[in-house]
Amino acid sequence: MWGACVLERLVYVSTAARRQDIEGQAAKIADEAEIWNLEQGVGGALAAHDGHFIQTLEGERHALDRLLKRLEDDPRHYDLVLVDRWRVDERLFAGWAMAGVAMDVTLREGLDAVIADPTVSPRTLVEAMRHRAVPLSGASQQATRSAAE
Ligand SMILES: Cc1cc2nc3c(=O)[nH]c(=O)nc-3n(C[C@H](O)[C@H](O)[C@H](O)COP(=O)(O)O)c2cc1C
Repeated sequence: MWGACVLERLVYVSTAARRQDIEGQAAKIADEAEIWNLEQGVGGALAAHDGHFIQTLEGERHALDRLLKRLEDDPRHYDLVLVDRWRVDERLFAGWAMAGVAMDVTLREGLDAVIADPTVSPRTLVEAMRHRAVPLSGASQQATRSAAE
C-alpha cells in the first residue's frame, strides 16, 4: 500500500522544555511514538543532545505532515526548526519505528553543527544516525518494513 505513495524524509531540531534527563525523555517519547509510527508507516531516529532533540522521520508525505502538526503542539519541546525535507526512493530506517542513536565524537560534532546552523545540510548526518541506530524503546526493533511494502 505504502509503495505507491510519495516517500519523504525530514530532519528537525527542537529545544527540550526540560533539560533534565533528556535521554529518559527521549526513551519515553519513543515508547509513545511506537504504535502511531507503526500504524502510519513512519520510521526514523531520535537523538537528544545538549538540550535539543534532533529527529529524522521518514514515511509517506501526508503521514509526515500529520506528525509535524502534533509535534508542533507538543509542550515537551519548542522552537522546532524543520532543517530539511526531501523525497527519497527508499527507506533508510526500515525496521525502526523510532531508533535511538549511540553517540560518538563524529556524530556529536555533526549534531552540534546542525543545531548551531540549521542551513547546514543534515543528509550526511542522517546516514551517520542510521549507522549508529540503537533501540530506544522496548518495541523499537519492530519492523516498519511490513508497512513499507
Ligand atoms: C522530540 C519529540 C519527538 C516525537 N516523536 C514522535 C513520533 O515519532 N511519533 C509520534 O507519534 N509521536 C511523537 N512525539 C509525540 C507527539 O508530539 C505527540 O505527543 C503524540 O503524537 C500524541 O499526540 P496527541 O496527544 O495529539 O494524540 C514526539 C514528541 C517529541 C517531544
